[in-house]
Amino acid sequence: MQHTPRVIVVGGGLAGLAGTVRIAEAGIPVDLFSLVPVKRSHSVCAQGGINACNEVARQQGYSEYEHFDETVYGGDFLQHQPPVYEMTHWAPKIIDLLDRMGVPFNRTAEGQRDLRLFGGSLYKRTHFAGATTGQQLLYALDEQTRRYEAEGRVNKYEYWEFLAPVIDDAGACRGIVAQDLRTMQIRSFRADAVVMASGGCGLVFGKSTNSVMCTGGAASRCYQAGARYANGEFVQVHPTAIPGADKLRLMSESARGEGGRVWVPRRAGDVRRPTDIPTEERYYFLEEKYPKYGNIVPRDIATREIFDICVNEGLGIGGGNMVYLDLTHLDRAYLERKLGGIIDIYRKFVGEDPCETPMKIFPGVHYSMGGLWTQYVAKDDLHGMVAGAPTSMMTNIPGLYAFGEVNYQYHGANRLGANALLSCIFDGLFCGPGVVNYVTDVADPQPAPSALYDAAAKREEARADALVKNTGDENPYRLGTELGHEMTAGNTVVKNEARLTKTRAKIDEFADRFTRVRLSDTGMWTNQNLSYTRALGDMITLAAAMVEGGLQRRESRGAHYRTDYPDRNDADFLRTTIAEYDAAERGPRLSLEPVEIGLVKPRARTYGRVASATDPGASVAAAS
Ligand code: FUM
Repeated sequence: MQHTPRVIVVGGGLAGLAGTVRIAEAGIPVDLFSLVPVKRSHSVCAQGGINACNEVARQQGYSEYEHFDETVYGGDFLQHQPPVYEMTHWAPKIIDLLDRMGVPFNRTAEGQRDLRLFGGSLYKRTHFAGATTGQQLLYALDEQTRRYEAEGRVNKYEYWEFLAPVIDDAGACRGIVAQDLRTMQIRSFRADAVVMASGGCGLVFGKSTNSVMCTGGAASRCYQAGARYANGEFVQVHPTAIPGADKLRLMSESARGEGGRVWVPRRAGDVRRPTDIPTEERYYFLEEKYPKYGNIVPRDIATREIFDICVNEGLGIGGGNMVYLDLTHLDRAYLERKLGGIIDIYRKFVGEDPCETPMKIFPGVHYSMGGLWTQYVAKDDLHGMVAGAPTSMMTNIPGLYAFGEVNYQYHGANRLGANALLSCIFDGLFCGPGVVNYVTDVADPQPAPSALYDAAAKREEARADALVKNTGDENPYRLGTELGHEMTAGNTVVKNEARLTKTRAKIDEFADRFTRVRLSDTGMWTNQNLSYTRALGDMITLAAAMVEGGLQRRESRGAHYRTDYPDRNDADFLRTTIAEYDAAERGPRLSLEPVEIGLVKPRARTYGRVASATDPGASVAAAS
């Protein structure tokens, strides 16, 4: 009987849905796995927009090339350049496609798609749907996915958790093991290729702007199965989040793109209400230090400056860790039209109206530039990638792909705001056909033996069983909270050898304590305790790779800032960090790989910063 290839996609966010649609439209059946109903995937939380040159931007001097250049400059030159070139040149087509799918992009009075400023660019080139852009894009792609579902080409497995890739004797990925989070049934699924589109790992840091399901567990499971993990030390801390007891809530960069201003009182300990502090007594530190970019400097820089103002200079609001993000000088109707989604979030969670009172914000963990290592096939002249190449965005495990945030490509040492939605959709649309070509032309057409799937499922059943029956004295939630505190303190905005070494030792301690976790729910029906605890073990393993990368990268670049090595060091570290899991040592083995910089030579990354004698931010001056 003729073998019909099938593909499994893990993750129902933008990358997963874009990949699913692209593969299904080529006639290949897709099994789509998601922890939650796909419309609740974390992509729904993306707020500010999606970057692309369009005709209006072009008339102002912008171009796809400029988008490419500012993306690699923003990423401190750590990206391979051909994939970034391809992505930025595809961006206008992606916007057109989304428009045709019905995304309600904001429009100007003339009916053009409206554009806004975003970090790291002097051009308005960010397309947006109010401040709920991710939600609108996700819903549009969900509708396309449903179309193929109705035709029987897509089979959705919602509330299923990915547990492991199934790898055959030749080392190729032949399916997955997953668990139904309602019945807790564990079973294997066959596929000729698997696309991981499982998103980021914010929960490793405890509180973040990510949804709580963003554990990084799926990436960690692939890493432990032999997939390489790249640039784990590069974690984006977004400058503007609402601090919260339970989690951090994003206050979009678009607030600054639309004219919002960041400031603190010039006098430490000034307890007046912000509206009572006259302009000349306000310190608009981003505008003063970066006159060219002002409040829209890239995230790594804005975050370090805010951190410095609060932690080192003691100028945070009331002496604490917060600064003002001020929209009050802008027209209310304008704000509601452009930023209604985030204004509502602030009103709901803080109880104040940002149109009348400046918001109080502080940086929060937001995105992982690191992720599963993938390969790509460049055009001969490096200007982009070869269309349809079966190995592009494939991990080192044949047949196992990574799309979206879990893929380390495109963003280098620091992602520019509004490039995430772009990279997710680009991976699905541009690299989906490569997956189709792999399953039709390259993958082994012989079905793998049933014993392979049975053994993989049994391994995961045994793992779950061991966790449920464990009789130690460690509370997994307390351990997870400690992991988050340690990772945030030692491995985010400012790092150094001593602090990283301490964090690394703590992670080993957490791994030891993890062997003694005890679950409060041992039942086999919707046991979220099991799902969380299993992910916790995988988060600890991933955290070790992230911190080890930071320890070995003795330089400062983008989001990775080390006080003991404050300069960028291209000679030694213009390299990708690659972590491989050493099962015997139960830890990471690291190596470095050269970066393809054949199109744009690295240059100093200053964003026009002015140094002055009174400059309080000098102690955390940008890395280059
Ligand atoms: O600030 C924001 O709206 C986030 C956008 C992004 O992470 O790309």
